[in-house]
Formats: sequence, C-alpha cells, structure tokens
Amino acid sequence: MRYDSITEAIGNTPLVRIDPDVHGLRNIDLYAKLEMLNPFGSLKDRAAWNMVRAGLAGAAERGETIVELSSGNTAKALALIGGLHGLPFKSVTNRMRIPEVKDLLLLLGAEIEELPGQSECLDPTATDDPLTVFHQRLGRPGNAHLHTDQYFNPLNAEAHAQGTGPEIIADLDGRAPDWFIACVGTAGSSTGVASALRAHDPAVRVIGLVGEKSDFVPGIRTADEVQEVGLFDPAVYDAIETVSTGEALDGMVTLLRRCALLAGPTGGAAYLGALRHLRPLDAELTERRTAVFIVCDRAESYLGYVRARRPELFGRPAVKNSLTTLTAADLGQVTAIAVDEAQKWIGSGRPLVVDLRGPFAYAALHIDGSVNIVDELFDELVRNGMPFSTSRPVLLACPVGEKSARYAALLTRMGHPDVRSLAGGIVAWRDAGAPLVRD
Ligand SMILES: Cc1ncc(COP(=O)(O)O)c(C=O)c1O
Repeated sequence: MRYDSITEAIGNTPLVRIDPDVHGLRNIDLYAKLEMLNPFGSLKDRAAWNMVRAGLAGAAERGETIVELSSGNTAKALALIGGLHGLPFKSVTNRMRIPEVKDLLLLLGAEIEELPGQSECLDPTATDDPLTVFHQRLGRPGNAHLHTDQYFNPLNAEAHAQGTGPEIIADLDGRAPDWFIACVGTAGSSTGVASALRAHDPAVRVIGLVGEKSDFVPGIRTADEVQEVGLFDPAVYDAIETVSTGEALDGMVTLLRRCALLAGPTGGAAYLGALRHLRPLDAELTERRTAVFIVCDRAESYLGYVRARRPELFGRPAVKNSLTTLTAADLGQVTAIAVDEAQKWIGSGRPLVVDLRGPFAYAALHIDGSVNIVDELFDELVRNGMPFSTSRPVLLACPVGEKSARYAALLTRMGHPDVRSLAGGIVAWRDAGAPLVRD
C-alpha cells in the first residue's frame, strides 16, 4: 500500500466477525465494522475529509481557518487535515469533557474555544445559546472560515453513503446485512450507511442508538439532544434505542478482552445495543441472518473516563456512590421542587444552592448566592463520601433538572436528610422570570 497522501488511506476498513462463543447468538452472524482503523482514528475521518476537501484549494492563500463545532473525533481529523494543508483549525464547543482529546487537539495545534452553551450539542432554535449564535455567524458570507458544519452538512452523510455502506455490502459478498446498528452523534454515519444499504435491499433494518437522558457516552447524543441535529431524520431508523454508560463500558470491555478489538465506549455501546436488540429475534429464527455494528474509535482516549466509572478495572476500589448505582427505588425518593417553591425555600430554609452546570454557563447567569460545582467534579466528590454537612439543607440545580434529580437521589441514599432538586433546572427558573445574576 503506497500513498501520496495519508487522506488516501481513509476508508476500506475491515469488517470482522465476532466469535459466536462471545456474543451467544445462534442464528445471526454479527460483524464489527472497524472504523477506528481509519488513519486519524475514527469514522469521522471520512466525514471530515469529504466535508473539507472541496474548500481546500486556495484556502491557505485566503488566510482561512477550518472551523467546526466538535469536541472529539471530527475535530481531531480536521486538525490533522488542516496541518497537512497549511490551515489552522479551530474547534468551538460547549465543553470538552474528555481531557485526553482536548490535550491531543492542543498537541495537534488546534485552537479550542469553549463557549458557555446550554447543551453539548448545537440547538439552532435556541437563539440565546452562544454556540448557536456562533454557528449563525459562521454561516454569514465573507468570513475567513472554512466551516465544515458537520451537524447540517449533507457531505457528512454522503461520505458514508459512498464509502462505509458500499464497503459493508462488498465485504458481505454483495449482500446487505439484515440489521445495521450504529450510535448516533451527528447522524451522518447511520444516515449515510442506511441509504446505501437500503438502496441495495430495502428490507435492511436500521437501529440507531442514543444515550440515556442525563447520562454521558462520549460521541453520541441523548434522545433529546439528537432532535436538535440537522442531519437527524427519525424516518431513517426502524428503532431508536437508548444505551447507558454501564452498557457502553460492559460492551467495550468484552470487545477489548474477548475480541481483541481496541474499541472505545461507543463501539461497546453499539455491540451491546446490537445484542440487546438481536437476542430476542435470534431465538425465533429458522435461517441464518447477518448484522453489522460500527466500532467508531479506539479505547486509549477514554482511559480517564473509564477509570472514573469503573475503577475496579484498574485495580482500585469500586465506586459505591455513583449515579450508575441508582435504583428505581432511590429515584422514587427524590424531592423535586418547582421554581416558586424553590424561591420561597431559599428565603426561609436557607439551603446551600449548588449549581452543577459548567463554569461558563454559571458565570453567564446563576441564582444569587449559589455555588458552582461542575457535574464531573461533583461526581468525584460524591464518590468519596458526603460532600456537605448534613445539618444544612441542599438545593441542587442543573440545566433542566434531570441530573440534579439523580444527584439528589444519591445524596438522599447516602443519608442527607434534606436535599432537593430544582424541577426544570435553571432553564425553568429563567423561563419563570425568577432573578438570575451574572458574574
Ligand atoms: C466516538 C463516536 N462514536 C459515534 C459517533 C456517531 O457518529 P455520527 O456523528 O456519524 O452519528 C461519534 C460522532 O461524533 C463519535 O465521536
């Protein structure tokens, strides 16, 4: 294999059969499409290259900067391609939650701008979200940006319609699989592959996997967030199912330890999501079928993410106090209070108000007198025991009241006598016109 440019090595990734002794399906051959073997490390290499390619000619002379709203793999691929073509790359995001990826981007020379956005993902209808404002500004003509626009750019899905999908068919000897299962981030890969597979065989069933609400699997959207993605069309999917962090990690560990596949969390999520969907169907089958799932990227960037959630895998004590250990009974114990009730309680009960949002969002607007402990840090504090005195009541607030409810359940289980969650979060507080202050 000899190339003039590393970008020629994008695509043509292997399709590897998972040993039936590992997955346990009797009538379905399950294959992993190893997108982590793309040269920059993920399936986003295809989209990044397809989106940026046409804009490269003359871009350096015009002094352009490649810009993308990405906190992960697309940013990595674009930073590398930018370097190859003498173009700077700037990543604009709400919050970079995986420090290894942030460090790698800095090492690649990327400029990173973290904005005080309200969600991880772009919501073009939220006109007051700084990320949205930035996105609109990028769309105006005459700026010096080569904006690849992954959430809206059809070239993202096209990369997979022309590459990933046809490769799967070719590797299955000219047949489309019966099921295709993929995690949904920008929706580019699932949309593109689905169109190629269905053009070949309309009977293909496509399963999209999203994260559970108030959970975080890096690279995919939650069920709510995905609605905000321009490329996302629910009609593409026969089913959209949720995967939890726990499932993603279980799947990842199986792929690492039993299949010799250096998969990251979304590869694990796709594997486990595939099995969960296919198991009941497998039992009914009388003839052989085929299913394909995507391994998007590699494990190494996520060591800190895994260690924080599964320290026992690293020879450390298991986490007792974490959101993943909550049961339905724990969640049933939560006291969530509406904005007007919370306002009265702050006046009379003087609770410690803890705002779990990111520091930028907090700095932009917060409840007067509240303290800011960003949720990742809060997570760590709670793991090590009760972070506050139990003699003072606590009101927890997050963007929409989901995460705070879960932490309220956890603190209650840990023995705090009076911890409450702000129902609807800071968004409800703001919408009710309750006072917010700015730093
Ligand atoms: C790690 C990871 N897995 C899966 C996906 C989903 O891919 P897509 O954006 O094509 O939906 C992404 C996308 O950002 C990702 O970074």
